[in-house]
Amino acid sequence: MTAEMINIEAVRADFPILGLQVSGKPLVYLDNAASSQMPQQVIDRIVRYQTHEHSNIHRAVHYLSELATKEYESARLKVQNFINAKESREIIFTRGTTEAINLVMHGYGRTFIGKGDEIILSALEHHANIVPWQMLAEEKGAVLRVIPMNDAGELLIDEFEALFNERTKFLALSHVSNALGTVNPVKQMTAYAHRFGVPVLLDGAQAAPHKSIDMQDLDCDFYAFSGHKMCGPTGIGVLYGKAKLLEKMQPYQGGGDMILSVSFEKTTYNVIPSKFEAGTPPIMAAIGLGAAIDYLSAIGLAKIEVYEKELLDYATEQVSALKGIRIIGTAAEKAAALSFEISGVHPHDVGTILNADGIAIRTGHHCAQPLMQRLGVPATARASFAFYNTQAEIDKFVAGICKVQEMFI
Ligand SMILES: Cc1ncc(COP(=O)(O)O)c(C=O)c1O
Repeated sequence: MTAEMINIEAVRADFPILGLQVSGKPLVYLDNAASSQMPQQVIDRIVRYQTHEHSNIHRAVHYLSELATKEYESARLKVQNFINAKESREIIFTRGTTEAINLVMHGYGRTFIGKGDEIILSALEHHANIVPWQMLAEEKGAVLRVIPMNDAGELLIDEFEALFNERTKFLALSHVSNALGTVNPVKQMTAYAHRFGVPVLLDGAQAAPHKSIDMQDLDCDFYAFSGHKMCGPTGIGVLYGKAKLLEKMQPYQGGGDMILSVSFEKTTYNVIPSKFEAGTPPIMAAIGLGAAIDYLSAIGLAKIEVYEKELLDYATEQVSALKGIRIIGTAAEKAAALSFEISGVHPHDVGTILNADGIAIRTGHHCAQPLMQRLGVPATARASFAFYNTQAEIDKFVAGICKVQEMFI
């Protein structure tokens, strides 16, 4: 373990919740793909905002409103920097990844995708990147085409390329699979889609917390992620969109702030990003996300990625050495998630027994039912890692699995 890369003791001390006892045992939190934990620095920033800085933004000249506006807009700049977007107006605050994808479906899809058009998705998608497109396809008479995968959980690139034709109008693809941890070759796939003039949305919910992401390098048209999976608060997420596309799109919601002028005869919409931020936004959560970005950036995403890869490799090695366990998802490129099944034991029982030892994992279909169907399993158990997890915690997790096996077999 390259412990020197991350000062793990100091990092863990930043997260008060990691000191919790669950069922009389120290918490081992391995459900980071569902939601990560928040360091004291982010908690303090939220408290400071609520204690000394809160007001509504954009609409007043008084001290607090100007301060809150400045901090909210500074969070947007932090996001821009974090993902290397060209311009800050390309950053739209949303409630999360789900809302960001729905925004693109409504704002872009309902205008530019029509009857007989084709939308390409992958077999690995979270429901958040399936259902909105299915709703659009139903409304417009468009067709969903699905990129197949192999048994390791890797997308079949030849088959992906073969899906493109003159009716292809959109590609919506996860950067990293939440259920299997597969890292898709999104830069290469985006470049391929662009050869056909097809815009690309990347679901980065599971990538942004774990890897350095660069919009100008990936060259995707849209990128979505959630604050609560990257040490920030719930209720905040980001849609990145290329300015020239965002400008062409219809607003997602109508209301205050997204207008320049309103009369009963005609409304003129505001410029981006305001056009897509109707009503009072989650100001506190956006500022909290800014603090989370500061925190992650101070550690460094490159270090986080290396450290988490070592955790994943260690966990994979330990779990593979056990009999009667199948790791589900063995792609060559993976990030921070280990899905598995224990033969003869329902995943929910695995989760329940581990919980009795203070170990939090997730069991179920991981909001990826089509993927579960492809894998021929109703559910999996999934441990997912963050940079504040340790090898010692993985040892406890593996000991927990052995205990499950002893109880059932
Ligand atoms: C890959 C992926 N996409 C989308 C989502 C939805 O994120 P949210 O619930 O924060 O909108 C998740 C959440 O687990 C996810 O893992």
